[in-house]
Amino acid sequence: MCGIVGYAGTQSALDVVLAGLRRLEYRGYDSAGAAVLAGGGLATAKKSGKLANLEKELMERPLPSATTGIGHTRWATHGAPNDANAHPHLDNAGRVAVVHNGIIENFAELRAELRARGHHLESETDTETVAHLLSESYGAHVDLAAAMREVCGRLQGAFTLVAVHADAPDRVVGARRNSPLVVGVGEGEYFLASDVAAFIDHTRTAIELGQDQVVEVWPEGVAVTGFDGLPAEVRTYHVDWDASAAEKSGYASFMLKEIAEQPKAVADTLLGRVDESGTLLLDEVRVPPEVLRETSKVVVVACGTAFHAGLIAKYAIEHWTRLPCEVELASEFRYRDPILDHGTLVIAISQSGETMDTLMALRHAREQGAHVLAICNTNGSTIPRESDAVLYTHAGPEVAVASTKAFLTQLVACYLVALWLAQHRGEKFGDEIGEVVSELAGIPGDLERVLETMEPVRELARSLAGHDTVLFLGRHVGYPVALEGALKLKELAYMHAEGFAAGELKHGPIALIDQGLPVVVLVPSPRGRSVLHDKIVSNIQEIRARGARTVVIAEEGDEAVAPYADHLIEIPEVPTLLQPLVATVPLQVFACELATARGNEVDQPRNLAKSVTVE
Ligand code: F6R
Repeated sequence: MCGIVGYAGTQSALDVVLAGLRRLEYRGYDSAGAAVLAGGGLATAKKSGKLANLEKELMERPLPSATTGIGHTRWATHGAPNDANAHPHLDNAGRVAVVHNGIIENFAELRAELRARGHHLESETDTETVAHLLSESYGAHVDLAAAMREVCGRLQGAFTLVAVHADAPDRVVGARRNSPLVVGVGEGEYFLASDVAAFIDHTRTAIELGQDQVVEVWPEGVAVTGFDGLPAEVRTYHVDWDASAAEKSGYASFMLKEIAEQPKAVADTLLGRVDESGTLLLDEVRVPPEVLRETSKVVVVACGTAFHAGLIAKYAIEHWTRLPCEVELASEFRYRDPILDHGTLVIAISQSGETMDTLMALRHAREQGAHVLAICNTNGSTIPRESDAVLYTHAGPEVAVASTKAFLTQLVACYLVALWLAQHRGEKFGDEIGEVVSELAGIPGDLERVLETMEPVRELARSLAGHDTVLFLGRHVGYPVALEGALKLKELAYMHAEGFAAGELKHGPIALIDQGLPVVVLVPSPRGRSVLHDKIVSNIQEIRARGARTVVIAEEGDEAVAPYADHLIEIPEVPTLLQPLVATVPLQVFACELATARGNEVDQPRNLAKSVTVE
């Protein structure tokens, strides 16, 4: 959350910064601001609301042309999302400008101290303290990187900081602890940003910054040191996705584009991970074989949609490996003294690789001696870097705030890990592994078919735009899918939506059923687990008898359920454990369309940000 851009080069710094902020707006859209170094001074502009407000302001009151600058798009933590709290923040002399992502936990103490020394602080933010501290420190060192190192030594919490000083006209300095910051390496120009998307139009060469490092860029170079001032080893890497991945490419929203990309995202995540004989090839996942053999328990930690992927993974892991598997919200995990040891394999699932709750959970797990495997979509991000091993999903950049293609690829990665664990541990599911692997290979085609049949779902969603509540019911793996369907509707359509295990209905939630209430029901396959199927058909009859309007998602040809469906959405026949891959897509389309019909902006839902880098 919060997007940061810095630029030192020969182009118009403001143009580069604004284009970068446009790409980072998914990280927060409460306010935006920029500062440039020009004519021996500092010029800034900032505005509450979306980036468009800042752009309008800059049209009316342009900043002087400059080749060094910084910018910020905010997801508010300290202080209301107004102009005064927007970044950049300045010192009293107006010589230092700072942008920040994260939370400085000891800011109250620092503020009091600064005030006692005669500083005048104008905003309610924690960030402003840094501008004042930097100003003091720069006075002592006359070196912005040295000043930044000194200031970072005084800060507690999580932060990415990027700053400029009017006395260092071609320099931008950044620092990171627990929040992301990457360096883009161009020819005669350097970029700092929260995410490579901000500079992908200019360069594909990037540098990963480690924990507790300070970076200084100027048009001809870059220098990285630790907070202790010692030079740090720099690792450059190539960003291998192309710029169109960060464009809407004709779709009305990133979410629609990302829903449509799911067949490819799933195929890419499977690519090269299974050989022709159906054996899983996950050598890239560097978990020593003895760790796999000695694992006695699996614990999945994640948040939000990634947590739902974990809930589904539990069914697959326990079924294929016979290992007990617990799934826990990362934000709760370390506070309840979980039982972990060398025999515990912790799987941390995160699209962004930056979610603070998940990062803290994995750190706690490692401190207790557990082995941590990350499932992540973002190369080089903090969660995989701090884990013992990683399996990357290949969804490509996910820009819309609501997770879609990342979720499906997280599921694929979970299935692969579960099968791979079973393979290593010599479980008796040898034949089943081969069968599941070949079924997985068919999923991209199944998803194409689902996507082709979504018009009735869109129509239904539009017809429900005036409702206040939608319930979702499922059993077995359909239960986490119901939770995911409800989450999508809450975050996009701002409606009351809840997911329930259908068996729990008569233990309370059935009291919510009223005349005309839309209830979406995920129906398990009528094959194999037919007991479960029959039970949910009974549940549908129970709610229908009480007036519910039933929206039934069922396997093609499921004739037993059809008579009880006010609306029937058919999905292809796939093995039960894989059904979430095809059953989730109609729920994504449903939420996206319903939110649009209610006039909401689906890519940037209110109060949310894509990457949640605070606890
Ligand atoms: C919902 C959504 C969030 C994220 C959650 C975890 O659509 O996107 O619930 O799934 O914030 O994010 P990551 O996967 O980046 O750790």
